[in-house]
Amino acid sequence: MSERRVIITGVPGVGKTTVVNGALKTLENEGITFKSLNFGTYMFEVAQKEGVVKDRDEMRTLDRNIQRSLQQNAAKEMAKEEGNVIIDTHASVKTPRGYLAGLPEWVLRELMPDTIILVETNEDQILMRRLTDETRTRDMEGSASIAEHQQFNRSIAASYSMLTGCTIKIVINADYLLDNAVEDMAAVLR
Ligand code: AP5
Repeated sequence: MSERRVIITGVPGVGKTTVVNGALKTLENEGITFKSLNFGTYMFEVAQKEGVVKDRDEMRTLDRNIQRSLQQNAAKEMAKEEGNVIIDTHASVKTPRGYLAGLPEWVLRELMPDTIILVETNEDQILMRRLTDETRTRDMEGSASIAEHQQFNRSIAASYSMLTGCTIKIVINADYLLDNAVEDMAAVLR
């Protein structure tokens, strides 16, 4: 089968990384391997070198042009990776000035994914996960705002599909049903 390039998105705290890790383990047992790349990590390494942020959660408050340049560098670096690749990122980023496209045209042109997966769940569950995760600095927002962000992500994902011809898959990662989400994602990656 030809090499796969799959982008995983979802609002902060929805459990993207947890589901990806589970799906990759399932596939590894079947002899299917993917390299897992984190877009935020690539951006953060450059941002740290340039001394513009101290932690990764600060990146979404940077000037739009700086975020754009970090995005561009990250996409160029990740595009060099060969073989089956998963990229953990955001369909859109909530910034103080509004939603910023996570995969604008200049990023998509580099990455050219064959599938974009949207990980979603009920907004109240996401709010609870954010409140109980002490390892990160989360923006304070209520469930209605999280619901709006998830809705915006669906809309912008449609435009990504129009630009690249990629498919869009929605994976639901509900409380107590992580195994279902892992199996759904593994099925898309097989
Ligand atoms: P990133 O590192 O991706 O941060 P994030 O979105 O906050 O992602 P997290 O890893 O915190 O959340 P997650 O959804 O993976 O959840 P997790 O598995 O940890 O990005 C950092 C920054 O980089 C962004 O803010 C942005 O500035 C920048 N960036 C990235 N991409 C960009 C782009 N394309 N353009 C511009 N900027 C970009 O799980 C969360 C919690 O939920 C855990 O405690 C977990 O145990 C729990 N959990 C998960 N699943 C379940 C379940 N089924 N039931 C119960 N609990 C669950």
